Amino acid sequence: MNDRQRFIYVVLLWTSVFLAGCKEISQTKEANMEPSITKTDFGKTKDGQNVDLYTLTNINGLVVKITNYGGIVTELWTPDRNGKLDDIVLGFDNLKDYEEKSPYFGCIVGRYGNRIAKGKFTLDGKEYTLAVNNGENHLHGGLKGFDKVVWDAESIQSAESVGLKLHYLSKDMEEGYPGNLDVTVTYTLTNKDELQIAYEASTDKPTICNLTNHNYYNLAGQGVRDNYENQLMINADYFTPVDEGLIPTGELRSVKDTPMDFTRPTAIGARIDSDDTQLKYGGGYDHNWVLNKKAGEMGLAAKVYDPETGRVMEIHTTEPGVQFYSGNFLDGTLVGKEGKVYKHRYAFCLETQHYPDSPNKPDFPSTVLRPGQIYKTTTVHKFSTK
Ligand code: BGC
Repeated sequence: MNDRQRFIYVVLLWTSVFLAGCKEISQTKEANMEPSITKTDFGKTKDGQNVDLYTLTNINGLVVKITNYGGIVTELWTPDRNGKLDDIVLGFDNLKDYEEKSPYFGCIVGRYGNRIAKGKFTLDGKEYTLAVNNGENHLHGGLKGFDKVVWDAESIQSAESVGLKLHYLSKDMEEGYPGNLDVTVTYTLTNKDELQIAYEASTDKPTICNLTNHNYYNLAGQGVRDNYENQLMINADYFTPVDEGLIPTGELRSVKDTPMDFTRPTAIGARIDSDDTQLKYGGGYDHNWVLNKKAGEMGLAAKVYDPETGRVMEIHTTEPGVQFYSGNFLDGTLVGKEGKVYKHRYAFCLETQHYPDSPNKPDFPSTVLRPGQIYKTTTVHKFSTK
């Protein structure tokens, strides 16, 4: 070996030692990489209750922020097709705005998601009167629904996921509902890029229960544009038409040959302003779709794709219906996170649930919960890109 050869030999030897070291470090790092959950202060409610903000991060870098005020998802960061993370839900960056002006951004909705006509229903021969907060109707649990209460929170962590378990005891006759309702909602962010929401409840008197989540999504990113380009597929051949007050008539109507047909992926904006009575009543889409699957069984509810960013969200649920609301009441008066102005139809909601006004519609799947029974539903949002 001459000097030059010896020099090359030494350089190669050191390079291979260096590379082997790097590999080991990166393997160790991967083996150690676990999802995480951290807690920070999110301020005090007007009546002095402390509220926290939990940040859940999975091993792929997806981030979900949830506050125990209303169980609200305040941020949800997912990658676009180039790996760039964006926050894809509307919301506020402070508790005060949530308390004062939120149109149910990201919250847990309860005790009853969506409307109950005139705030009245009869159960076992007794008529109950609920708080009325939407014209003459009851909406999303009343004046102080589950979106406006402080939940007990507990972090959950495993190698595959991180979660936040929220608990709330809704007292007998709260907002007019009978029975003490013990509710647990668990948000779980998995390493498979899924946000799961599991709802459980039990009661000590016959009551009604219909829980959901009210995330306002835009797969292009929050506050950047309207939802028109997002392509939506809803796994439903029927929907529940409504009257002018957005109360279902009781009919299950075929979506065929109507702007309600989302059986094939269709841009939300493609038919939203069509001359259609149902769209006029809703000011756009604000209806419940009857999912093509058995209630209680996990199955596909909807899939959304944004061609610009490549983001895909697929929703599976055990619920029999999904309320697709196209953000028609957003009008540019709300200023949200990062100073973004939330204009008309800047987001959409897909609220998996039982049908609106079920307590007054004997032919709809029942929302009655009795002592001894456990209310149990699950919805999974799977994020990917294409
Ligand atoms: C309802 C809409 C309502 C929105 C926000 C949706 O679930 O169907 O009518 O405006 O929630 O409150």
